[in-house]
Amino acid sequence: MSPKAKKVFYCTQCGNETPKWQGQCSACGAWNTIVEQPEAVTRKSAGPRRAAAGGLARSRPQPIGEVETTDELRFETGLGELDRVLGGGAVKGSLVLVGGAPGIGKSTLMLQICDSLCRFANVLYVSGEESQRQIKLRAERLKVRGEGLYLLSETNLEDVMEAVQELKPDVLIVDSIQTMYNGDTTSTPGSVGQVKECTMALMQLAKGQGVTVFVIGHINKEGSLAGPKVLEHMVDCVLYFEGEEHMSHRILRAAKNRFGATNEIGVFDMGDHGLTEVPNPSEALLSGRPQDTPGTCVTCVMEGARPVLAEIQALVVPSAYGNARRTSNGFDYNRAVLLLAVLEKRGGLMINSCDAYLNVIGGLWVGEPAADLAAVIALASSFRDKCVPGDLAAVGEVGLTGELRSVNSLSQRLSEVRRLGFTKCLIPAQNHGKIAAPEGLQLIKVRNIREALAAIL
Ligand code: TYD
Ligand code: MG
Repeated sequence: MSPKAKKVFYCTQCGNETPKWQGQCSACGAWNTIVEQPEAVTRKSAGPRRAAAGGLARSRPQPIGEVETTDELRFETGLGELDRVLGGGAVKGSLVLVGGAPGIGKSTLMLQICDSLCRFANVLYVSGEESQRQIKLRAERLKVRGEGLYLLSETNLEDVMEAVQELKPDVLIVDSIQTMYNGDTTSTPGSVGQVKECTMALMQLAKGQGVTVFVIGHINKEGSLAGPKVLEHMVDCVLYFEGEEHMSHRILRAAKNRFGATNEIGVFDMGDHGLTEVPNPSEALLSGRPQDTPGTCVTCVMEGARPVLAEIQALVVPSAYGNARRTSNGFDYNRAVLLLAVLEKRGGLMINSCDAYLNVIGGLWVGEPAADLAAVIALASSFRDKCVPGDLAAVGEVGLTGELRSVNSLSQRLSEVRRLGFTKCLIPAQNHGKIAAPEGLQLIKVRNIREALAAIL
């Protein structure tokens, strides 16, 4: 009689292994994400790594001066916003993971790049979610012509690999990693073991044969599928496709990039005919901005090397209960609470007994302190029920004593502010001197939030 298979437990969110089942993962803190898997899986998952060593030339230590370098070979995907996030096009033989919530538009994005890719490359689009017919219908709707585009509806990774050996595509797209399974492994598709194993096999394909692989991975809040998080360390690039459910804007961000910076974003708009690029995000994010209404202020944040204008809205109302409510959307909550405290103590506004809501329009996440001043102004504007001039923007970090601190890349921000038609901009006095205002833009230098509020409200 064979000994009883030893069980191992995994967190489906972060991949952490534990010897026994727990309600909460001790590594990432997620609840109900631990699942059981036979140990055979773990032992097997060492297999591809050994195979990988055989597949690639065996490496020995070499002095760094003797290591030969050539620039990595890049090609453009045809979507400028995607190329920008990838650091100037996709690198041949790299593996790119595209993560995002279901329905956000990952399949659409991948199918759309096929249109230009298949003009100079053979592309194999493997879907484990849709039939060839469904993909074709979608491709037609997206106006993807695709002479060199091959479709395969398959979930068995071995069959996919066979198709790859037959077709020898330059680009392989796998939609999605959670539907793929490797026949050798007993665990179910979408489990940590399967997802890791399949990604490893695809990585070997990319490195060994120079096939550029795009892998789609769903982010699943319930944790019933292993998410892209467990794969981040394995792949070359991780892109996240984000957006608000009810908004048409989609933002593509790089979370990891072995071939470029990770601070670029790509902005898209989801319409009836798929995704269109938004080369001018400031304009898109500011469209429909209310005029002559209290509680809104525009700022300029840097998204990578690109300045983007963002509208910050605030609503401050007397609190109905003892405890004032605070919420923030698209803005760090703790930062918002801190700014409210500074407004009370240093700005002289009795805002503590009010409910305050802060929102950044357009699904943008503003994580930069340079947006502090605009948030403070929006809050004060709503509190006093006074409008901020419509042609005014504000940039500056607010310190705990209410002082305004200088921000980086100010000239780029000011150019963007001017380009979008603003004529006044509040900036920290500290920054002045080094800065030349673009023509037609009046700079209002302020030293602290009291001066800022006195200048405009
Ligand atoms: P999809 O690419 O299937 O999302 P994912 O692969 O990330 O799960 O996109 C699905 C959503 O996008 C769907 O709800 C409808 C919408 N959509 C459009 O609005 N316009 C279009 O042209 C397409 C193809 C999809
Ligand atoms: Mg899809």
